[in-house]
Amino acid sequence: MKLQLKSYTIALLIAPVLTQPTPNSGTNWTQCTSLKPPNIPGTTIISFKAQELLNYTVSAVPLLLKNDISGLNICDVDIVLTHQGAQDQVKVKIWLPLEGWNGRFLGTGGSGFAAGLFEYSLAPAAGLGYASASTDAGLSGDPYSPELWALTADGKVNTELLVNFASRSVHDMTVAGKQISTQFYGTKPHHSYWNGCSTGGRQGLVSAQKYPADFDGIVAGAPAIDWARYVVAEQWPQVVMKEHQTYVDPCLLKAFTQSAISACDSFDGVNDNVITEPKRCVFSPFKLVGTSVDCNGKTISFTRIIATVIHDILRGPFPKDTSNLYALNLGAPLDYLSNTTVLDGVRKGSPFFVNDAWLRYFVLKDPSFDTTTIGYSEFKKLFSQSQDEYGEIIGSNNPDLSGFQKQGGKLIVWHGLSDQLIFPQGTVNYHHQVEAALKHRVAMDTFYRTFLVPGVDHCGLGLTNGAVPVDPLSSLVAWVEQDVSPDILDALASNATGFTLTRSICRYPLTSRYIGHGDQNSAANYICVP
Ligand SMILES: *[C@@H]1O[C@H](CO)[C@@H](O)[C@H](O)[C@H]1NC(C)=O
Ligand SMILES: *[C@@H]1O[C@H](CO)[C@@H](O)[C@H](O)[C@H]1NC(C)=O
Ligand SMILES: *[C@@H]1O[C@H](CO)[C@@H](O)[C@H](O)[C@H]1NC(C)=O
Ligand SMILES: *[C@@H]1O[C@H](CO)[C@@H](O)[C@H](O)[C@H]1NC(C)=O
Repeated sequence: MKLQLKSYTIALLIAPVLTQPTPNSGTNWTQCTSLKPPNIPGTTIISFKAQELLNYTVSAVPLLLKNDISGLNICDVDIVLTHQGAQDQVKVKIWLPLEGWNGRFLGTGGSGFAAGLFEYSLAPAAGLGYASASTDAGLSGDPYSPELWALTADGKVNTELLVNFASRSVHDMTVAGKQISTQFYGTKPHHSYWNGCSTGGRQGLVSAQKYPADFDGIVAGAPAIDWARYVVAEQWPQVVMKEHQTYVDPCLLKAFTQSAISACDSFDGVNDNVITEPKRCVFSPFKLVGTSVDCNGKTISFTRIIATVIHDILRGPFPKDTSNLYALNLGAPLDYLSNTTVLDGVRKGSPFFVNDAWLRYFVLKDPSFDTTTIGYSEFKKLFSQSQDEYGEIIGSNNPDLSGFQKQGGKLIVWHGLSDQLIFPQGTVNYHHQVEAALKHRVAMDTFYRTFLVPGVDHCGLGLTNGAVPVDPLSSLVAWVEQDVSPDILDALASNATGFTLTRSICRYPLTSRYIGHGDQNSAANYICVP
C-alpha cells in the first residue's frame, strides 16, 4: 500500500507508547501460511495471501507515524474482495501479532479521502498486542485526492465506491478481521474496538450506527460526520475572500488568532495560550484595524477590509442558525481553509483539498472546475445540492445508537476546540442529537462521552498550544472491560525544547479550571467545573 504523502494529512491517532508484549502459549494457533480465506456475506474473495513478517520495521512518516516501529513479528494477511455487482477490488490487510496477542481486535480507519492507512495504523496496534485490520475500500489509498476513483469512465460518480468509503467496507473489514483472528488464534477475540480520527472518527460512528454489533468500544476523534454539508462549508472562507476580492496574508490571519487567544486566555485562571471555552470568548477583528503587523520584517497594516473578511469567515455561512454548526472557534488557526497563494505577485485563493475535490468531483462532477470562482449564491446552491445527493450515503450522522447502546457498547468521542478543518460544534450537536434520540431512562453518559479538547487542532496534529489526549483507547478498554467510566482524559503538551505540561480533559459539558495555587503545568491543579 503506497500512500502519496504531501505536507499535511489527517492521520489516525493511536497511542504512541508501546507496551512490551507478554508471552502467549499459542497452543491452539494455526500456522500463518495455512490460514483460509474468510467468508464475508455479499462479497467474493479474489485473492488471499498470508505470510509471516519477522523483525519487521515500519518507518516513521511525518504526521502519519511519529516514531519508527521495529521488531514486529506478525502474521500478515492480504485479502482482495469484490462486492457482487459493484466491479470493485477492495484490499483488506490484517495483522496478527505472533507473540503477545492481547486477546483483542482493533479496527483502524482512514484520513481525508483514504479509508485506511494500512501499515501506519496497523504497526502501532500490533505493537500494543492487538490483532488489527485496515481497508482501502477499493479506493486509490491516496488521502489527498479522490481523482482516481470518484468518477467512472463516463463521468458519473462512482456510487459503489462512495458507498464502500462511506460505510460498507468498514463492516466487511471487521467481519474479515474477526474471522481471521479467530481462525489464527483458535479463539475469538474477547473484545473488539475501533480507534480512528477524522475520516477514521466518522467510520467509527458509522459502525455504531449501522453495524452496532461490530465493536464493544469505539474511539472517534474529530469525526468527519455530516460530511455532505460540513465539507462544503469548509469552502466558506474562500467564498468570503472571493466576494470581497481580498485575499488575506497568512501573517495577518495568525496575528488575529494570537490576539483572540490573548484576549480570552485567562478566563480559566491561567495564562497558557489556550482558550478553554471558546464559546465565552468574544473578540472582534475590528479591534485590530489600524494596527500594523510585522510579517517577516515587512510591516503590513491591518485594514478595515481585512477585518471584514475575517469577521465574515468566522461568522460562518449561516449566522442566523444559532447553533453555528459550520463556524470555526476563536483560537483555531485559519491558515488551511483561508489559504492563499501568490502567483505573479498577486495573492489568490487556494482552497483546502478536501472541499476543493469534493466540490469538483462529487457535487459539480467537473474535475476542471475552479472552486475559487464560487460566490455566495452558488455556494448556497452547492451546499444544498451536496446534502440532497449525498447526505443519505455519507452524512454518517444518524443519532439512533440504540442498537449499540443495547448491546453494551461504549463510545468516547473527542474533538480539539481549535480544530481548523472539522467544526467542533458538529460533534457537540451530534452529542445532543444522540441524547435526544435515547429512550427515557437511558443516561447518555452510561455509554457515550464527549471530550472537547482546548487549544488542540485537527486530531492533535500541527502546532497547537493545547494538551492532546494521550491514550483514549486505554480509557475505553478500562470502561468496557472493568466498568471504569472515564470522567477525564489524560492529556499532554510538549514542545521542541522538551518542556511538557499535563491537563485533564473534562467530560462535556464540564470544563477545566485552575484551582488558583500549585504548579500551573500540572493536571493535578485543575478541576472540572460546570
Ligand atoms: C484451545 O482450544 C480448546 C478447545 O477449543 C479450548 O478449550 C482452549 O481454551 C483453547 N486454549 C487456548 C489457550 O485458547
Ligand atoms: C532485527 O532487525 C534489526 C534491524 O532493524 C537488527 O539490528 C537486529 O539484529 C534484528 N534482530 C534479529 C533478531 O534478527
Ligand atoms: C496553501 O496553498 C499552497 C498553494 O496551493 C500550498 O502549497 C500550501 O501547502 C497551502 N498551505 C496550507 C496551510 O494549506
Ligand atoms: C517550550 O515551552 C517553554 C515554557 O513555556 C518555553 O519557555 C520555551 O521557549 C518553549 N520552547 C519552544 C521551542 O517553543
